Amino acid sequence: MADTQFDLVVIGSGPGGYVAAIRAAQLGLRTACVEMRKTLGGTCLNIGCIPSKALLTASEKYEEAKHSLASFGVKVAGVELDLPTMMKHKDGVVAANVGGVEFLFKKNKVTRFIGKGSIEAAGVVKVTKEDGSAETVTTKNILIATGSDVMPLPGVAIDEKKIVSSTGALDLDKVPGRLVVIGGGVIGLELGSVWQRLGAQVTVVEFLDRILPGMDAEVSKQSQRILGKQGLAFKLGTKVTSATVKGETVTLTVEPAKGGSAETLEADIVLVAIGRRPYTAGLGLDTVGVALDNRGRVVTDHHFRTNVPGIWAIGDVIAGPMLAHKAEEEGVVAAEVMAGQSGHINYDAIPGVVYTWPEIASVGKTEEQLKEAGIAYKVGKFPFTANGRARAMQVTEGFVKVLADAKTDKLLGAHIIGANAGDMIEELGLAIEFGASSEDVARTSHAHPTLTEAIKEACLAVDGRPIHI
Ligand code: FAD
Ligand code: NAI
Repeated sequence: MADTQFDLVVIGSGPGGYVAAIRAAQLGLRTACVEMRKTLGGTCLNIGCIPSKALLTASEKYEEAKHSLASFGVKVAGVELDLPTMMKHKDGVVAANVGGVEFLFKKNKVTRFIGKGSIEAAGVVKVTKEDGSAETVTTKNILIATGSDVMPLPGVAIDEKKIVSSTGALDLDKVPGRLVVIGGGVIGLELGSVWQRLGAQVTVVEFLDRILPGMDAEVSKQSQRILGKQGLAFKLGTKVTSATVKGETVTLTVEPAKGGSAETLEADIVLVAIGRRPYTAGLGLDTVGVALDNRGRVVTDHHFRTNVPGIWAIGDVIAGPMLAHKAEEEGVVAAEVMAGQSGHINYDAIPGVVYTWPEIASVGKTEEQLKEAGIAYKVGKFPFTANGRARAMQVTEGFVKVLADAKTDKLLGAHIIGANAGDMIEELGLAIEFGASSEDVARTSHAHPTLTEAIKEACLAVDGRPIHI
């Protein structure tokens, strides 16, 4: 019979849960993880980060072969889309990653339970299998890492065929002629880009008067301009009030967000991407009295303890940005605190990346946040048009923007739109984590010729002394 007595039972095996389980096992805790999905890895590995990046990369290659290689003197003829092979690539990447977590669980002796976990009482988790049978495990600690689920939109029922969530949009069997994306956030822009590159006419309908609302306003304005040039159409300040499916066509009724006359939009596929909400259904939280906030998120202290002793929570199910690496950091801290160590997360040093082309990356504060907080700051900016490597790579769109404290020069935020922005932002995240000033980064040698020289130049620009512009 399987072991049913643990130090820690993690419910959910996403990047928060599986990383917490491995870290706890490394620290000597007898650890189990309950996952209701057949494969491990949660939203991120199965239907989120990983498959979306597989399709983003593949569609970028298609786009490149079709439109960009010729200007490098590389002639390619007869470029064709083979969508089934592209999907096979995506499925293969997912399989390798979820299999990787299974391997890591075995290596670290994390016991895996397949089934839906519910909390019977502090220290008691019931696992209900698909066939209805159940078993109970007892544990010193329970970690809720159940993640999030698609936010529904009233009047627009998701059927994952004609009206899809991100999950359906990762699995379309043909390129839609017309795709309407509801929500100009991260999912809308990433998956909208994938299908636009593959040939769909994409219209993004956004409630607010800007896309990427959480990002620095200048960066989101520039992203809209660049994505618009690529062919994405935007209907801002617009809300969708209903959707009807007739045959192959979906008709959406839209109207100005501030009120006004309605119009209709027709689409072959509609993607609903208006955010995600914490997933706590069937967990038994009300039975044990775990407190939720007004948005349904589990409330924790800074060490991820809930109000019920022995029950902890991390990741998308609690407050904060819904990001895989944020969930991972929280999982590590929770496990370390359970094992008697201390832990801390600097949320200002957690980067966010939108994997469009070019990428959009950000860490720390935006200009709008600094203004609101009344913090005096200086801005340093450098465009990729003035970077030699960017010219060589034909990726001159975008810029690096850094924000530093006006008095102390401490770096407070950094925003990059440009090729490889997602990799480049790490340097500035590290600088913020170490409490560096813009001068510290400006005086650090950056290899030539690299795109990262634009970071050094932006930091020099804080003091009004960039060299190459
Ligand atoms: P999840 O990954 O959601 O995992 C929770 C797991 O818990 C799930 O497997 C679920 O089945 C399981 N579960 C829930 N309830 C129970 C229960 N009662 N019993 C047993 N199991 C249960 N983030 C990034 O940082 N970078 C990206 O590029 C990125 N791309 C994304 C693309 C898409 C299309 C989507 C949808 C999300 C993306 N995200 C990305 C967000 C990222 O996936 C989440 O922030 C991350 O997965 C959260 O991790 P988590 O461990 O909190 O929860
Ligand atoms: P989001 O919060 O990024 O964007 C949702 C957008 O929809 C916002 O711009 C919002 O103003 C808009 N919106 C809300 N209600 C609307 C309505 N009724 N009509 C029209 N527009 C409306 O959420 P999204 O894109 O669904 O992603 C969910 C989460 O997944 C995000 O929190 C994100 O962090 C995570 N994610 C992260 C990725 C990454 O890190 N690269 C990639 C994809 C998702």
